[in-house]
Amino acid sequence: MCGIFAYTGSKGKNAATVLMDGLLSLEYRGYDSAGIFLPESGNVKTPGAVTELRKKVPKEFKGKSGIAHLRWATHGEPTEANAHPHSDCTGQIMLVHNGIIENFKELKARLEKTGHIFVSDSDTEILVHLVEEHMKSENDFEKAALAALNEVRGTYGIAMQYKHEPERIIAARMGSPIVLGLGDKEHFIASDPSPILPHTRTVVFLEDGEVAVITPDKHRIFKLDSTGVHRSPENIEWNAEEAQKGGYEHFMLKEIMEGPEVIENTLRGRLVVDKGNAKLGGLESAGAQLENVDRIVVVACGTASYAGLVGEYMLEEHAKIPVEVEIGSEFRYKKPVINEKTAVLAISQSGETLDTLEAVREGKRRGALTLGIVNAVGSTIARETDAGVYNHAGPEISVASTKAFLSQMTVLALLTMFLGRLRGMTQEEGQEIARALKELPAKVQRILDNRQKIEALAKKYIKNRDFLFIGRKYNYPVAYEGAIKLKELSYIHAEGCGAGEMKHGPIAMIDENFPTIAIVTKDSMYEKMISNIHEIKARKGPVIALASEGDSDIAKLVDDCLYVPETIEMLSPILNVVPLQLFAYYFAKEKGLNVDRPRNLAKSVTVE
Ligand code: F6R
Repeated sequence: MCGIFAYTGSKGKNAATVLMDGLLSLEYRGYDSAGIFLPESGNVKTPGAVTELRKKVPKEFKGKSGIAHLRWATHGEPTEANAHPHSDCTGQIMLVHNGIIENFKELKARLEKTGHIFVSDSDTEILVHLVEEHMKSENDFEKAALAALNEVRGTYGIAMQYKHEPERIIAARMGSPIVLGLGDKEHFIASDPSPILPHTRTVVFLEDGEVAVITPDKHRIFKLDSTGVHRSPENIEWNAEEAQKGGYEHFMLKEIMEGPEVIENTLRGRLVVDKGNAKLGGLESAGAQLENVDRIVVVACGTASYAGLVGEYMLEEHAKIPVEVEIGSEFRYKKPVINEKTAVLAISQSGETLDTLEAVREGKRRGALTLGIVNAVGSTIARETDAGVYNHAGPEISVASTKAFLSQMTVLALLTMFLGRLRGMTQEEGQEIARALKELPAKVQRILDNRQKIEALAKKYIKNRDFLFIGRKYNYPVAYEGAIKLKELSYIHAEGCGAGEMKHGPIAMIDENFPTIAIVTKDSMYEKMISNIHEIKARKGPVIALASEGDSDIAKLVDDCLYVPETIEMLSPILNVVPLQLFAYYFAKEKGLNVDRPRNLAKSVTVE
C-alpha cells in the first residue's frame, strides 16, 4: 500500500506546496520513502517520509503541476533509487505507482534487449520504460500510456506525467484505489480523498480497468480498450481523517475489512495451482540449505506466535517436518538445541520486535538457517534473516494486529505447499490446498458482510467481565488469538484454552456469568468439541458457537451461534479468526475505548 497524489491547476498555487501538504495525510499508507516531480522543477526523492522530503526540496522548487508518492516497499529496499517517481531513460516521463506489476521480469528482459537501462529494483520502473518504448511508435503520450497499461499484469493505481505536457496527468486503476478531485481550474489524483478534501469535496472514484486524464479545466475517463466512461461526481461528506480510514470509524475495522484483498496480495504470483505448488522467490537464496533442514523452530511474539502455532499444525501434518514454536522473549534464555539443519523462522509484522530479532540472532549464533515472514520491507528482521517471504499486507496502523495475522497464516500455507512438495506431498494434495486458498478471499468477504450479527452479539454480552475461548487442533491457536484481541482492546479478562485442557483446570471457572466462545467448525475435532460444549453447558456456562454454515444442530445446544463458510481444515483458522477480530472490535467500541490505540501498548515493541 503506497500513497499517490497528483495536481494540475491554473490558479497560481504552487504544486510543490499542494503536493507536500497532501502527502502528509497519506502517510498512514506508507512511510519508507517519498518523492515529488514537478515538470518545471525536477524530481526529488528520499528514503524516509514527508519530513525528510521537505528537507531535500529546494526553496525554488515551483510549478503548476506535479506528481508525488509515499512508498511502502514491496519490491526492493526503501532506498532513494527505489523511491518514486520513477523515470524513463530520458527523464521525460515520470510515474508513481501503488501495487505490484506481476509480469515485470519478462517485460524487463524485453526492454533491456531494446536498450533500456534500469536504475532501481522496483517493478514500477518497468512500466515507465514501457510507456517510453510505446512513445517511439505512437508518438503520443496518452496512446503510449494506454498501450503500456494493456501489457502489464498485476495491480496498480498510477499517475504519470510527460515533461513536455506539464498540464496533463494520466491516472489508471487496477486493484489499487484511485480517486479524482474535481476543483475549479484545478484537478487532483489521489489514493484516497484525504489530500483532496482541503481543495474540493467533489470527487470521482475510478473503477478497475479505467484510465483518467486530468488537466486544470477537465477530466476524461475511459476504459483500457478506449471506450468512454461517464460517471457522475460524488460529494464527499467525510473529513480527512475519516477519508484515511476509508470511511470506517477506526483503522482496525478498515484493516479487518481489507482481509480479502490482503489474502489476494499475499497469494499474488506465488500460487501455482496446476502444479499444486507455491513459488516463493524470497526463499531461493536459501537454496540447498533449505532442502537439508530437518526441523523448523518458529520464533515470534503475541499474535504472530499464534500464526506460528497454526503453521506448526500445517507444516507437520502436510509437509511432514517437525516444528516447534518458541516465544521470542524466552528463546535466547533457554539454551536452545539447534544446529545448521534447523531453520529458525521469525514471524513479525513490524520486523522490529526486539525479542523476535534477538531470537533470530541467537539462531544465527548457533549456526541455524534464519528465515523471516515479515510485513515491513527492509525492517531489521527482514535484513538480518538469510531469506524470507514478505506478507504484502500493506501497513498496519491499528495497534492490534488483524490483517497481518491473516497474511501470516496464508504465507505459512504457501510454505507448507512449498516444503511439502519437496518432501513427498502429492500434486493432488498441493492442488487441493491451492484451490482452497484461492477461494478464501470470497469466503472472508461473506463473513465481513455479516458483521452486524457480530456487533449485536458484542452488545448482548457487553456486561460480562470474563470470557473463555476454546478450540482444538488448528483452532486451538485461534482461541488464543480471540482472547488476546479481546483483552488488549477491552481490558477485560479473556483466556484462550485448548478445549481438551478444560477438564485439567479451567472448567472450574465456568458458571452462568462466564461465557465461552467455542470454535466448533466441521473438521476432524468436531465431535470432541461438541462433548466439550456439553461439559460447559452442564455447568450453566453460556456458549457462543463459531460453527460451519449449514450446521443447524449446533444452534440447539448453544446460546448463540455465528456461522462461517467451510474450507479445508488447515485453512479454517484464516476464516475462523475473522469473527473473533470483529467481536473484539465491536466489544471495545461499545465500551467507548480507544480501539486503535489501546492503553499501555505500542505497535512496534522494540524494547525487551
Ligand atoms: C496483538 C499484537 C501483538 C503483536 C506482537 C508481535 O494484537 O499485535 O501481539 O503480534 O507484538 O509484533 P510483530 O508481529 O510486529 O513482531
